[in-house]
Amino acid sequence: PRCIWLSRHGESIYNVEKKIGGDSLLSERGLQYAKKLKEMIEENAPGEDLTVWTSTLKRTQQTAQYLNFKKLQWKALDELDAGVCDGMTYEEIEEVYPEDFKARDEDKYFYRYRGGESYRDVVIRLEPIIMELERRENILIITHQAVLRCIYAYFMNVPQEESPWMAIPLHTLIKLEPRAYGTKVTKMKANI
Ligand code: F6P
Repeated sequence: PRCIWLSRHGESIYNVEKKIGGDSLLSERGLQYAKKLKEMIEENAPGEDLTVWTSTLKRTQQTAQYLNFKKLQWKALDELDAGVCDGMTYEEIEEVYPEDFKARDEDKYFYRYRGGESYRDVVIRLEPIIMELERRENILIITHQAVLRCIYAYFMNVPQEESPWMAIPLHTLIKLEPRAYGTKVTKMKANI
């Protein structure tokens, strides 16, 4: 049966510095995950011919670098655009844009960053990705937290409004097997 593999990129420099957005490279730990991911795929999908989809951001491509499969970059898989808050920590946002910080907390799905996007915006730009996924087999998607939350909610049949709170931890490979009665999920945490 058909499978969809999902992973966030490995830990990035910005993740370590607690900054959102940006286009930073992977940390040392993130690079270890990239290596581990290759092993996890070999172990859990032996002999399978996957296609790897990444975003256009460096941290997803670095995470895919050891995977010996056909690769495709999608702008639609880039992380939620935080607009003027890109590159800031949540503490900085709370200090500089206290009203925005509060508004986002109160309505995280619809809150749109100044000059950026909301979760709702991401759900809309993911429509072509979802359509393509529905027609394809054996895709491994390496993307970002907000984007993965939306894709995961879609396949889990969770209302999209709840996607901003789905737990999608770093360094975890998720296997989805869509079935007639619902999607079977397997989560594999990398031991690094
Ligand atoms: O911190 C990593 C990150 O991917 C940011 O780039 C992004 O803005 C954020 O997570 C999305 O998570 P949340 O919607 O919970 O702020």
